[in-house]
Amino acid sequence: MTGEAPTEHDRTPAEWWRTAVIYQIYPRSFADANGDGMGDLAGITGRLPALHDLGIDAIWLSPFYTSPQHDAGYDVADYCDVDPIFGTLADFDTLQHTAHELGIRVIVDLVPNHSSSAHPWFQAALAAPEGSAERAHYIFREGKGQHGEFPPNNWESVFGGNAWTRLTNPDGTPGQWYLHLFDTTQPDFDWDNPWVRAQFRGVLRFWLDRGADGFRVDVAHGMIKAAGLPDYTPPVEGGSMGGATVTEPGIIAEWAETAPYWAQGGVHEIYRDWRLVLDEYPGERILAAEAWVDPLSHVAEWVRPDEMHQAFNFAYLETPWGGPTLRRVIDDSLTAFSAVGAPSTWVLSNHDVVRHASRLALTAENLQGHGIGPKTAGLPDTVVGLQRARAATALMLALPGSSYLYQGEELGLPEVIDLPDASREDPTWFRTNGERYGRDGCRVPLPWESAAPSYGFGPTSASWLPQPAEWGTLARDAQEGVPGSTLELYKLALRLRREHALGLGAVDWLAGFGDPIVHFRNGGVVVVANTGTEPIELPAGELLLTSEPLAGRTLPGDTTAWLRA
Ligand code: NOJ
Repeated sequence: MTGEAPTEHDRTPAEWWRTAVIYQIYPRSFADANGDGMGDLAGITGRLPALHDLGIDAIWLSPFYTSPQHDAGYDVADYCDVDPIFGTLADFDTLQHTAHELGIRVIVDLVPNHSSSAHPWFQAALAAPEGSAERAHYIFREGKGQHGEFPPNNWESVFGGNAWTRLTNPDGTPGQWYLHLFDTTQPDFDWDNPWVRAQFRGVLRFWLDRGADGFRVDVAHGMIKAAGLPDYTPPVEGGSMGGATVTEPGIIAEWAETAPYWAQGGVHEIYRDWRLVLDEYPGERILAAEAWVDPLSHVAEWVRPDEMHQAFNFAYLETPWGGPTLRRVIDDSLTAFSAVGAPSTWVLSNHDVVRHASRLALTAENLQGHGIGPKTAGLPDTVVGLQRARAATALMLALPGSSYLYQGEELGLPEVIDLPDASREDPTWFRTNGERYGRDGCRVPLPWESAAPSYGFGPTSASWLPQPAEWGTLARDAQEGVPGSTLELYKLALRLRREHALGLGAVDWLAGFGDPIVHFRNGGVVVVANTGTEPIELPAGELLLTSEPLAGRTLPGDTTAWLRA
């Protein structure tokens, strides 16, 4: 152990996940031990003490499995091995052991909606004839039209373009079509097939036996498709992951209720089955759903007592910065999740969305959910964005439940906007011919040391996406121990959150301010978040934390304070 403070892991092993702060590691971009410009598992292990010092309870690792990397590892070619670019299974064991020694739990990413087209199961399906058992593991169909020349239905890929690709038979004639809700290289499994279910039970056991503390489940709302695969035209274009933005709430509800490939009731049977598997293991292993559905009462169906433990709260992530909207989403979240006995989760950034230090300074009109780039209208003011991000995080970490952090947000990293086109890798960029920038801008490798090559990401200057020159000043070592730095703000918030057991608390709304002020008490802490532009005078009480330095007791706009109640 590098620090003296016990972690949540040490203190409350029972139902640790109800209050945990879970830090998302994107392995490609966290730390590179071997200097090839791509992050790896050994790099993560070497930097775990920094995460312990930060004060988190668990890490979630985005995929590190064998993969051709057409969707940055969300195209899995072997669910039970590590891709050589990230290391070996032995490296995973070392990482996990080191994390556990530090009191940090380890959640791995499970990608069950689709595999890579390079997976031996899909390759076997291609080699097998139409109607074979191998083809039945995926969703193959005849095309429409006289010669099957049209796709079986009108579904579109989340990444743009058609959701179907036609095969060419060994004799050169055109063959069946297969479904891929994402990239062409990510064929969807047929989860109505018991064989698929049996394989994934095996995958769960493989990682549980190795000691993994749980799974973040990719596309947990997409695995079952409506019978007959009916045509469907979404009411609006979805965001980066197929949801819409909360600026159009009625529309999201319609989308979530009607899409024949999202949120079909049949998914729940799968999770009940998985829960039985997890419950056989000691130590509170968890399932966390990535389910882009709406409204929150619907998301809560994923976390009923016999299903998953947590579901990401994307409604919170998508809520614009403002008093009324935030109060409403906090209330809705607590009501919806507590109705099924689950904790609410909170999240502001991840590897699929514009980093919140940039997003919170975008106007609703340019919040398209498909990334931002040099040609985006109304690019964000970075000073405003960072100030709001710090205030938003300080608000989020005071809420009861479990919070997710995305690597680099503790450094205040913004979205990287001006990546050279040639360096972009997101399939969204390619499938839309550059019309949508996609997600590369939030995936740029982390700066650890201001004076080192690749800012300490690795031992060489290589980094798979170029790092902006100004990231030297944002590097971890430039912020460590510096009062008022974003890193120190996160550390303080996480320490106070633990000391005051805020994760176990409740939100008691307090009056006294106007609409832009989010004002509540959680146990021994009073939180005042000023989302507006007019400064306010803080109520009495010892100041525990402020997201910006204050002059006296005046709380400026875009600033959050915690006071002792
Ligand atoms: C959600 C993941 O978070 C995203 O990165 C990925 O592209 C899609 N699912 C497809 O797996």
